[in-house]
Amino acid sequence: MKLTSRTIVVTGGSSGLGVELSRQLAARGNAVLAVGRDPAKLAVAQSLVPGLHTFSADVSDPAQRLQLRDFVQSTFPSFDMLINNAGIMRSVALGRDDEEAEVEREIAVNLTAPIHLSSMFVPMLRERPDACIVNVSSGLAFAPFPVAPVYSATKAALHSFTQSLRIQLRSSGIRVVEIIPPGLDTPMITPAFRAAMAGQRMAPAEHVAAAAIRRIEAGDTEIAPGASSMLRLLSRLAPGLLMRQMAVMYERAAA
Ligand SMILES: NC(=O)c1ccc[n+]([C@@H]2O[C@H](COP(=O)([O-])OP(=O)(O)OC[C@H]3O[C@@H](n4cnc5c(N)ncnc54)[C@H](OP(=O)(O)O)[C@@H]3O)[C@@H](O)[C@H]2O)c1
Repeated sequence: MKLTSRTIVVTGGSSGLGVELSRQLAARGNAVLAVGRDPAKLAVAQSLVPGLHTFSADVSDPAQRLQLRDFVQSTFPSFDMLINNAGIMRSVALGRDDEEAEVEREIAVNLTAPIHLSSMFVPMLRERPDACIVNVSSGLAFAPFPVAPVYSATKAALHSFTQSLRIQLRSSGIRVVEIIPPGLDTPMITPAFRAAMAGQRMAPAEHVAAAAIRRIEAGDTEIAPGASSMLRLLSRLAPGLLMRQMAVMYERAAA
């Protein structure tokens, strides 16, 4: 699958991995529409990425998802690739600091939005040759980080959803890809998360975006760069050991 001359929507395209994917995809001659909530962040992304198109929307809001779909339908009729990348990660102390609305919002951004955006864009993508949906999950889909229990659960669920979607769309010609990033050096990783993950090397978003683009072009559908592939392997070969390591990280953060 060639990643040139495409029309690509990147949710969360104004920061971190999303802005890197947008930058590298735009540099390869693709038309890229970056979606995010904050117009100021989108404007900064536009100044970094020549030719970047932007649309301000909260993907956790059903009405704003419909506005995004209508905008794409009317403005980018050659749309052929959706990258569900927007995400938030919160530290949640269960039973203490787990306000229901905030938990619901985290689930809505990380899981509900990619499910509904995938569904609502399938009819458009079916009409395009070589179309593609990319979901960005996390290495934490394979080993929960107990400091961020809701986030970890959404990423495990997104991994599962992506597997089903891939099978359901097999005969449609729409390829379904999962990018499973390792810990990234992006604004999502706050100083508190960084401290809890002490000793973990954070990968540059630039490298992970480049690896993902290369491997999508090579035909891979489950892309787990760096430490993510190790987490996936350990979750199968030594799940007890992996969970003991996660518990140590949690206890260090909670101390
Ligand atoms: N950083 C890591 O260590 C890491 C590791 C594995 C996987 N990932 C995954 O990689 C993806 C990108 O993460 P990142 O580290 O690049 O995060 P980031 O730098 O914090 O960027 C998140 C992006 O999502 C957008 N966003 C957040 N909530 C949104 C909403 N409700 N509607 C629309 N856009 C929204 C943000 O823009 P606004 O705030 O303006 O909306 C921003 O553009 C996420 O799915 C994340 O879970 C990250």
